[in-house]
Amino acid sequence: MAELAELEDQARRAGEEIGRAGTRDELERLRIQFLGRKSLLSEALGSIGSLPPEQRREAGAKLNVLKGGLERLLAERKATMEGAGAREGGLDVSLPGRAVPPGSAHPLTLVTRAVVEIFRGMGFEQVEGPEVETDYDNFTLLNTPPDHPARDMQDTFYLSKDLLLRTQTSAVWGHIMKGRKPPLRIVSPGRVFRRDAVDASHSPVFHQIEGLWVDESCAFSDLKGVLGAFLEQFFGAGTKSRFAPSYFPFTEPSAEVSIGCVSCGGTGCRTCSRTGWLEILGCGMVNPKVFDNVGYDRRKYRGFAFGMGVERLAMLKYGISDMRWFYENDLRVLAQVK
Ligand code: DAH
Repeated sequence: MAELAELEDQARRAGEEIGRAGTRDELERLRIQFLGRKSLLSEALGSIGSLPPEQRREAGAKLNVLKGGLERLLAERKATMEGAGAREGGLDVSLPGRAVPPGSAHPLTLVTRAVVEIFRGMGFEQVEGPEVETDYDNFTLLNTPPDHPARDMQDTFYLSKDLLLRTQTSAVWGHIMKGRKPPLRIVSPGRVFRRDAVDASHSPVFHQIEGLWVDESCAFSDLKGVLGAFLEQFFGAGTKSRFAPSYFPFTEPSAEVSIGCVSCGGTGCRTCSRTGWLEILGCGMVNPKVFDNVGYDRRKYRGFAFGMGVERLAMLKYGISDMRWFYENDLRVLAQVK
């Protein structure tokens, strides 16, 4: 039988080698080498019976301590290795988490905010109106007679004889004017509804931004100044604008405002139908008949107003050719507008 000192020495070396083992095969080889049937330790344990009886007990205890120690080291090393394996194939709690992309505001929200912010800078106050309106506030108060084509069932979602989904943000005029006295200067963004089929430039639900300024002195030149400043801030310094006569029942005179085409710069292209100009908004001086309807003195007050479509502004500003992109929630598109 090998000397106990020799066995202890071997057990120490075995411990070191087990600690360095990198694979299961290596570990198994070491187990066979140090604990297998032909190992020194097994042989020693096997020959205890040939020792004198008074030595058996002590030798047996010592050998079993060595054996138990090596078995524990092997088991620990195996567990460590399996832990590392799990890291490759399964869950590694030490990996940094996957970044969640931050959400961003919808392009229409961004454009609305930008427009409102520009008008707030010129002293306009943001107000909101209801989406369900009376026929009176959406049309009659705004000098739109009952036989006006805009009231046609083709264009308007009626909820009942008198209630409808507002077709224009101009419907907020009545709410504001009936509740306050001039001076007032408001800007009002919101959803509007029309019975239109969906195509590249139409949607039954879209967005407008309305502006209204009423004061004792207020002239068409103020309107031109305010809108010119807005267009330059929104589309960039040097943006050309042009006013052309138009008609809206609630303004007199009325105008539509165009800017030099953002796509071709005025030479003519498909975006501007070869005219070099893009129509951007409707505006005008508040029709005195509207003042009569809300109880304002038409001799004392003047006002101007304007209304624009948010989708159209966003399409022109970001070069988006189809309005449906705004509603389809494809993040590859929406995330491009910052
Ligand atoms: N409400 C009009 C529309 O939906 C747009 C508009 C035109 C608003 C002229 C105005 C305005 O305030 O003065 O077509």
